[in-house]
Amino acid sequence: MKRVFSGVQPTGNIHLGNYLGALRQFVELQEDHECIYCIVDEHAITVPQDPKELRKHILDVASLYLAVGVDPKKSIVFVQSDVPGHAELGWVLNCNCYTGELSRMTQFKAKSHNKESAPTGLFTYPVLMAADILLYDTDIVPVGNDQKQHIELCRDIAIRVNNTKKKTFVVPEGRYLKEGARIMALDDPTQKMSKSAPNIHSRISLLDDPAKIKKSIMKATTDSEGVIRFDPENKPGVSNLMNIYSVLAGVSLEQIEKDYEGKGYGDFKKDLVEITVNALAPIKARYEEIRYSDELIDILKDGAARANAIAKPVMQRVKDNFGLGLGR
Ligand code: AMP
Ligand code: TRP
Repeated sequence: MKRVFSGVQPTGNIHLGNYLGALRQFVELQEDHECIYCIVDEHAITVPQDPKELRKHILDVASLYLAVGVDPKKSIVFVQSDVPGHAELGWVLNCNCYTGELSRMTQFKAKSHNKESAPTGLFTYPVLMAADILLYDTDIVPVGNDQKQHIELCRDIAIRVNNTKKKTFVVPEGRYLKEGARIMALDDPTQKMSKSAPNIHSRISLLDDPAKIKKSIMKATTDSEGVIRFDPENKPGVSNLMNIYSVLAGVSLEQIEKDYEGKGYGDFKKDLVEITVNALAPIKARYEEIRYSDELIDILKDGAARANAIAKPVMQRVKDNFGLGLGR
């Protein structure tokens, strides 16, 4: 069985982009893969975090994993900082990655605003992400398109180490969906939907109530043409909404164009509100059941133990191939 690894940061507002780009794949893959899903709290502290909020968000994201259908009997679900190998391997990889490579990462450029006071951790964040993946001999990494550059860097580092030391790492592949891989902001379809945008109507969070969902969709930016046609270049707003509709309702883009011929954006948006509310209602209900249960903590503790058992021999292999420590 091939091994799958992915992670989501424990920051608030897990949104439709996270769900359609990443979480949906997590559920699908667990049927015939060995899946490991992580809440990457060490990544979250690359920007300032309130300790109480961070702890809360770790459990929020863990509950959402389970609420969308990740099954702890099939998959490992755990918190990154509960497995010391991530930070440990991260250091070794930092010594095998070039500052030039990291300077080219678009996410760093966007988040650091060229400031000298940007944390070093923000700069080396893609190396920690590579460690997350390589620590488990991962074959497949399901993520949204925005992570492509980081996955390529992870592969480059793995190949480099394999070529200069003994073969140490499995070289992983990214897995991106055709539809949903990049969901755009509702208020500005030139930007990706993000957790941190100040306008709450730019995104639909998985736990939004129906009134909020309705308001965000009805306000969503479209264009003045009034025709429902998929054309991301010229009609980014409408195309983004069509994308969401298509995935949530399981209807092709062509079919949507046919169904809405001669109809306006108002009708289309109204239907999209209903589809979205219906898709998110069971997720929200399950989330409420899990979030404050003792079961959640047990699942995460068990997940950490199982993750550690896989990570330990890989880390020992790394130490042996680099000559670290005393050996066995
Ligand atoms: P993050 O919120 O940055 O921890 O991302 C968690 C997962 O969601 C990653 O696999 C991202 O690639 C994916 N993701 C984040 N934003 C979007 C988006 N707007 N569209 C599609 N996938 C996304
Ligand atoms: N960097 C990813 C994001 O912001 C989260 C992440 C951290 C991740 N480590 C990972 C994703 C390992 C996949 C595999 O979305």
